[in-house]
Amino acid sequence: MTMPRREFVKAAAVASVLPSIARGAHARGSDTLKIGLIGCGGRGTGAASQALRADPGNVLWAMGDMFDDRLTSCHERLTDVFKDAPGRIDVAPERRFLGFDAHQRVIDAGVDVVLLTSYPHFRPSHLEAAVHAGKHVFCEKPMGVDAPGLVRVRAASELAREKGLTLVSGFCWRYANAERAAFAKLHEGVIGDVLSVHTTYHTSTLTKRPRRPEWSDMEFQLRNWWHFTWLSGDHIVEQACHSIDRLAWAMNDKTPARCVAIGGRAARTGEESGNSFDHFGVVYEYDDRRRAFHTCTQIDRTPSDNSDYITGSSGTGEINGWKPIHAFRDRTGKVIWSYEGPSRDMYQNEHDVLFASIRAGEARNDGPWMCNSTMMALMGRMAAYTGQTITWDQAWASVEDLSPPAYEMGPLAYPALAVPGQTPFR
Ligand SMILES: NC(=O)c1ccc[n+]([C@@H]2O[C@H](COP(=O)([O-])OP(=O)(O)OC[C@H]3O[C@@H](n4cnc5c(N)ncnc54)[C@H](O)[C@@H]3O)[C@@H](O)[C@H]2O)c1
Repeated sequence: MTMPRREFVKAAAVASVLPSIARGAHARGSDTLKIGLIGCGGRGTGAASQALRADPGNVLWAMGDMFDDRLTSCHERLTDVFKDAPGRIDVAPERRFLGFDAHQRVIDAGVDVVLLTSYPHFRPSHLEAAVHAGKHVFCEKPMGVDAPGLVRVRAASELAREKGLTLVSGFCWRYANAERAAFAKLHEGVIGDVLSVHTTYHTSTLTKRPRRPEWSDMEFQLRNWWHFTWLSGDHIVEQACHSIDRLAWAMNDKTPARCVAIGGRAARTGEESGNSFDHFGVVYEYDDRRRAFHTCTQIDRTPSDNSDYITGSSGTGEINGWKPIHAFRDRTGKVIWSYEGPSRDMYQNEHDVLFASIRAGEARNDGPWMCNSTMMALMGRMAAYTGQTITWDQAWASVEDLSPPAYEMGPLAYPALAVPGQTPFR
């Protein structure tokens, strides 16, 4: 296979974020790492490609999804992408699994590494199962949709550390060259002390899939997962968690003492919109009295912005990975630093780090900060839904479990929209 190997070599050469790859150092002494993909949608297809490109010894060995159409289209796509690489896609029909227990059957299919790229609701149970079975993990963000789930993720992350398993999170900006350089510069003090941060994730609405007669209520909600809080966590958790993670990064991963938030639904329509809000604004308060701010919207025909605005004691910073802008200014507005280096695909970087760590036998563990960033998003949602101030400790102690009564295709109540001041904190 030509392309993945060439990209792998190029990647290893230019990626300053990567540790060196010790070939053959895989704990089991095999040159092949078998990959199991759990969640064969857009991100899963991408993650599987990146995993295969990260190391020429990697093989896609098992796949699991809730739905046949998603698994089949993913398999077809990957087969096409790797058509010049015989053997890299080696998912025999008996290693393609469907339904609510597909993850366990992938894990039990003899894989070394699993890619967890299904809906956020399932992340805690999938991560637990993978770590208990001794698998290395790539774990997409967010890590859960409620505190009880995130507590399980935190415990599974700790168990991964004890077992020497690598756990890489899908908070991809932490693996982007420009962001790594910019946040390092920030923490070196290029604009003095960080006084405040405002991160934004202002965008338009996501896909809506109209109900089909053959779909049960459960399938309808699964197919429109972004808009149902029990599945996605709402967009502040599912999508804007990237920006909340960068807020946390800018604050040097100090956790907030409490937050207050506003939010609601101004423009969403249709039953596919579930019970998600379309705007949130959160004020995080720290025990040293600093404040940091996050705003996110999913409203069509409004301006987009996905930036980090940082105020320091001697200047300001602006980071926008998409434009891209990575610049720090002094108080006069003069640019005193901007990123000039290479920018490789951050998603590829994640997988290069994951597999380099496995090959080297040096387990990497993103657990603590990936859980904290997810919790910051969750506490923002809790504060917005209830209209109450939520402390960090309260958020972790929340007993609200968003799981449905049963995991089966069939009737499922349509969830209610939260109303600040009326929806209780639990
Ligand atoms: N890091 C990033 O930049 C980034 C980008 C996109 C998505 N994501 C994250 O990746 C995850 C997937 O997003 P997506 O855009 O690929 O969504 P998607 O809907 O395209 O794919 C998700 C897939 O998971 C499957 N699935 C659902 N429940 C499952 C279960 N219990 N077991 C097995 N498969 C199951 C679905 O059928 C679907 O095929 C989400 O957590 C999302 O937030 C991250």
